[in-house]
Amino acid sequence: MVAIGRVGIIGGGGWLGSAIAKALVGSGTVSDQLLTCSFRSNKPENSVDCLWTRDNSELVKKSDVVILSVRPGDWSAIDIDAGGKLVVSVMAGVTVEDIKRRTGSTRVGRALPNAAAEIGYSYTPFFVESSEPKDADIIDTLFRSCGTVDAVNQEEHIDYFTAMSGSGAAFPALLAEALMSDAIARGVPAEVAQRAAQQVIIGAGRLQEFNNVSPSETVKSFVDYKGNDRSWHHCDAANGI
Ligand SMILES: NC(=O)c1ccc[n+]([C@@H]2O[C@H](COP(=O)([O-])OP(=O)(O)OC[C@H]3O[C@@H](n4cnc5c(N)ncnc54)[C@H](OP(=O)(O)O)[C@@H]3O)[C@@H](O)[C@H]2O)c1
Repeated sequence: MVAIGRVGIIGGGGWLGSAIAKALVGSGTVSDQLLTCSFRSNKPENSVDCLWTRDNSELVKKSDVVILSVRPGDWSAIDIDAGGKLVVSVMAGVTVEDIKRRTGSTRVGRALPNAAAEIGYSYTPFFVESSEPKDADIIDTLFRSCGTVDAVNQEEHIDYFTAMSGSGAAFPALLAEALMSDAIARGVPAEVAQRAAQQVIIGAGRLQEFNNVSPSETVKSFVDYKGNDRSWHHCDAANGI
């Protein structure tokens, strides 16, 4: 495994920054002794027991890898010199070129986790432009602590994934909302409708993960299912029947 070294998270007190910090320490990817997080207003309660600071320059000095996890609107106020360090941004819409120019680093990556990072189920694509070949492995290792990771070779794909996987949890929630509304309109009690709709998306996700086939194959299995056809082996396997 690639050596990560010391990690700093600017905005480590925020929602995503905290989730990443917990995942890094919880998975043993980075020890709390080697992690520094910065905050702006208040140091968050119930976060990881690492070094906390309000001083982002101090954080950069103490880090080999700097993760930028502030809102894009707060980016213009971040003034750091991270020359020689690997800088990885999770900010939506902020370009590698801008990060290079503003931090002085020639080793810059962009990663785009999603809300499931909190439970270790994020999908995180990343793009990196660096003089150091090991940097892709470092970013991969960091975000593997939050879930599944892919390297992409075009920066614009990160912008695409901001809407696709970055908002990922909302898509099945939208489907569940529609299913639930329909059930309620047909007289099903709201509590039962919610449980049913929720279990559809949870069960579908688990089944998809278990079967590990393309989504088209899952759709085809349902379309082709005749009710008494034992060849529908994926479902049989998942249910143990
Ligand atoms: N949430 C997601 O699911 C998600 C997914 C993909 C990407 N992202 C990206 O992740 C970034 C963070 O999002 P978030 O949802 O975690 O937002 P958030 O909860 O608002 O966290 C941002 C944190 O940055 C802190 N901050 C702002 N300026 C700072 C500074 N100068 N020094 C230190 N800390 C500073 C804020 O402190 P205050 O408490 O003072 O405001 C806040 O705690 C965004 O750029 C977003 O595009 C988020």
